[in-house]
Amino acid sequence: MNSFTNNEFWESKSDNVSWFTDTNLNIAQTVLDKHILEGNGDKKALIFEDDQGNVTEFTFSQLVSQSNKVANFLSKNVINKGDRVFLFLPRVPDLYINFLGIVKTGAIAGTMFSAFGSDALKDRLENSGAKAIFTTKELADRIQTIRDELPELKHVFIIDDEDYISDLEKESDVFSMFHTRPEDYAFMLYTSGTTGKPKGIVHAHYGLIQQIESAKICLDLKDDDIYWCTADPGWVTGIVYSILTNLSLGVTTFIHSGRFDPEKWYSLIAKHKITVWYTAPTAIRMLMAKGDALTEKYDLSSLRYLASVGEPLNPEPLLWSKKIFKGKYFHDTWWQTETGSIMIANTPEIELKPGSMGKPLPFVTAEIIDDDGNPVAAGEEGNLAIKPPWPSMMRTVWQNTEKYDSYFKNGWYISGDRAKKDEEGYFWFVGRADDVIKTSGERVGPFEVESALISFEGVVEAGVIGKPDDIRGEIIKAFVVLKPDVDATEELKTKLQEHVKKHLAGHAYPREIEFIDKLPKTRSGKIMRRILKAKELGQPIGDTSTLEEY
Ligand code: WTA
Repeated sequence: MNSFTNNEFWESKSDNVSWFTDTNLNIAQTVLDKHILEGNGDKKALIFEDDQGNVTEFTFSQLVSQSNKVANFLSKNVINKGDRVFLFLPRVPDLYINFLGIVKTGAIAGTMFSAFGSDALKDRLENSGAKAIFTTKELADRIQTIRDELPELKHVFIIDDEDYISDLEKESDVFSMFHTRPEDYAFMLYTSGTTGKPKGIVHAHYGLIQQIESAKICLDLKDDDIYWCTADPGWVTGIVYSILTNLSLGVTTFIHSGRFDPEKWYSLIAKHKITVWYTAPTAIRMLMAKGDALTEKYDLSSLRYLASVGEPLNPEPLLWSKKIFKGKYFHDTWWQTETGSIMIANTPEIELKPGSMGKPLPFVTAEIIDDDGNPVAAGEEGNLAIKPPWPSMMRTVWQNTEKYDSYFKNGWYISGDRAKKDEEGYFWFVGRADDVIKTSGERVGPFEVESALISFEGVVEAGVIGKPDDIRGEIIKAFVVLKPDVDATEELKTKLQEHVKKHLAGHAYPREIEFIDKLPKTRSGKIMRRILKAKELGQPIGDTSTLEEY
């Protein structure tokens, strides 16, 4: 049927997922419904705590009933197989339930981070041709302002609207799940590159077979765990490791809707007796910065296994965790929206080398190659590449096959990351090969920020870079050229920041802004962010042969 790398291995893992007798496959069957068939319907599936400390719990049976209601509701609203239905929601149970309700109908579920502003939403909804979106009263304002420009968007469902609530309540909690084929699309989400608008990365149902295997190996999940993945389902980690894999494995999952707060987080671990915790280096560094005394106020002894993702985990916070959590430490994991699951990791089996991302999972062929596709010697820097295809790999970039094809060269998938491999096969992250920014573990494209800045009256042009930051990994720094009659004031900087937050996203605004007279550009007019960065860091500017006079 398929010809994935290590195909025999994947065939031997066929039982990871639950197949229909007609050999079709819908991820929602494995994630939810099979637990009822296996007699585990009454097991606690989700524990949800909101900002005010109210706790709501759901068993697997309740999640099945609720997601069936959503699926019936969508079917009544003429949502069909292959339609794109998006979620623009805070981390509330509906986000998790509706994701699976959408997938049950055979439609493609898409997520958008709740910090997105109207322009970011428009790009995503327009490109995907989304037919429906779920949101809240509070977030709906950002959709209403762009609704006229989205002719394909037929429905905006407001989950806290009384009419919606009563309509949903009337739906049957029995639904006959759509028998999608393994290669049909299940979900999509947008991610940023160096240039152009965000890209819609699309994943297939069959990917779950690998996602589950990766979770078993990298998160060490066991039947009686209480698992907390702090990532938002607006990002890939929040989909794959806080909805799909954990629930497939029948693991009780904790969700907190509130923002990051060190004391709150420790108190949640103690209160809910979290055993497995998957989070990001920025959070770990922020916890570390709050000091050790705070950790002593809470009983954190329930924690059994810790893992980290999204940005480099430097040795200092890692060794700190080992001290604070009595020998347990964050196991770094490397992957991307495009890879669909963890590819390289510090698994429980391998000996820790602080600062290394660990080794490729047993079924992954990863290599460091030069620009011609040849492996480089141990210890040398090169492009981190993976031998395609693998089951959880993206299937396409929505309506952009050219972009999809551009990831593959000389028989390799090129990740866009620079890295090294040592003599013992451990991988070490070096940096991005392009201008993609990772701020607090979240992926931001400089082009989107530049576009948002330029849309402000008085701005001529802007160049945006990631500036290294001890806590956040990188912060966004913008170099802005103003029209001659505009005053370069501190007040204007604040206005620009607010403008980007409103139009692009709350998390993607430039924390630093510098007004300059002119941006370094190539002769063809492309902004040379590399030069802005080198100047910012006081490093040599390097090859300037393509640079226009600067
Ligand atoms: C970076 C997140 C260093 C990397 C799952 C990658 C990492 C990008 C690590 C993907 C890690 C992810 N160490 N860097 N352990 N994990 N990255 O698509 O640059 O949001 O290419 O997926 O994050 O970000 P994305």
